[in-house]
Amino acid sequence: MEKKNVLGISFGRKLGNTEVMIKEALLECEKAGHTIRFLRADDLNIHICTGCISCVVGMITGRGKGCCPLKDDFHIIDEALMESDAVIIGSPVYEMTPTGNFKVVCDRIGPSHDISFRKTCYEEGLAAKKDKSELPDERSFKKRVGALVTVGGAMTENWLSFSLPTMYAFTMSMGIDVIDAYKYYGAMAYEHVLGNIPVMERMKKLGQHIAEALSAEDEESRTRWRGDKQGVCPVCHNELLEVTHRGTEVECPVCGISGNLSIENREILVSFPKEQIARSRLYYAGKLEHSTEIKTCAAGPGQIPDLKEQKERYRNVGERK
Ligand SMILES: Cc1cc2nc3c(=O)[nH]c(=O)nc-3n(C[C@H](O)[C@H](O)[C@H](O)COP(=O)(O)O)c2cc1C
Repeated sequence: MEKKNVLGISFGRKLGNTEVMIKEALLECEKAGHTIRFLRADDLNIHICTGCISCVVGMITGRGKGCCPLKDDFHIIDEALMESDAVIIGSPVYEMTPTGNFKVVCDRIGPSHDISFRKTCYEEGLAAKKDKSELPDERSFKKRVGALVTVGGAMTENWLSFSLPTMYAFTMSMGIDVIDAYKYYGAMAYEHVLGNIPVMERMKKLGQHIAEALSAEDEESRTRWRGDKQGVCPVCHNELLEVTHRGTEVECPVCGISGNLSIENREILVSFPKEQIARSRLYYAGKLEHSTEIKTCAAGPGQIPDLKEQKERYRNVGERK
């Protein structure tokens, strides 16, 4: 069996519920013969994305390789991700969503690691006979699997409603195939998850699922969904839907694909046509659709000739000296 690298990242407290759950899953991966690594995200000093978009502009113009100009601890997560073959990401639920720091890290991974930008830039660079050291990291294109874990104190499941769907923001841009996801709610009823044996057992299972996917022989068994529920969306397996107000059309807000809602035997059914499934943003085709949109639709400088003067009107509005 080929030894692979499994990375676990927790956005929770030191030795809190999330951390122990992720570590339990990692231990199973180690038992299966893989190398494990753990990062506690809140120990790292990671700055918010400033929106300079130099990562994307660099890749589009062929003058960069998707790097961020901010100098902080993000490189620790970046290198660990590049080394990894599988990731297990866990976040507590704060205000119905993953933590603020989780989103900070997602924004830093975001467009700069988008495989559709990176691949196009890499291929164009190779065609232009550039040295590989000037191109996006080749390890960006490795096929990876992932599992997501979310932990909420609330006894009522709907206090975790945006947690798992939002967690796909971590894996989406790198095209990591999520093969399992687990939502632990009601954590407040236990002093610690260590007192909740079924949940700890489920984490063992999650680790085994990752190990199994890592040793799969074909693409279908590698990416097979191993979560507890199929979910309403056949791609991300979440249960969330957006109403479009175009007849019976609904959208999966995670994948950005549309389906058709119907009611049979007083039950809601949603069918997603094949061509919609194929353009999920969790897949390369969906990401390429968006990166092409950015390349072709984004207005450049000069569209508003007196923009500088117009902006000046707003410079000090409401700001205290
Ligand atoms: C600021 C804050 C907001 C929270 N909001 C929610 C929430 O919306 N839903 C929920 O289920 N739990 C909420 N919780 C509870 C945490 O999710 C819970 O304590 C969790 O076990 C923390 O994970 P940890 O032990 O890994 O740090 C919140 C906790 C904090 C500190």
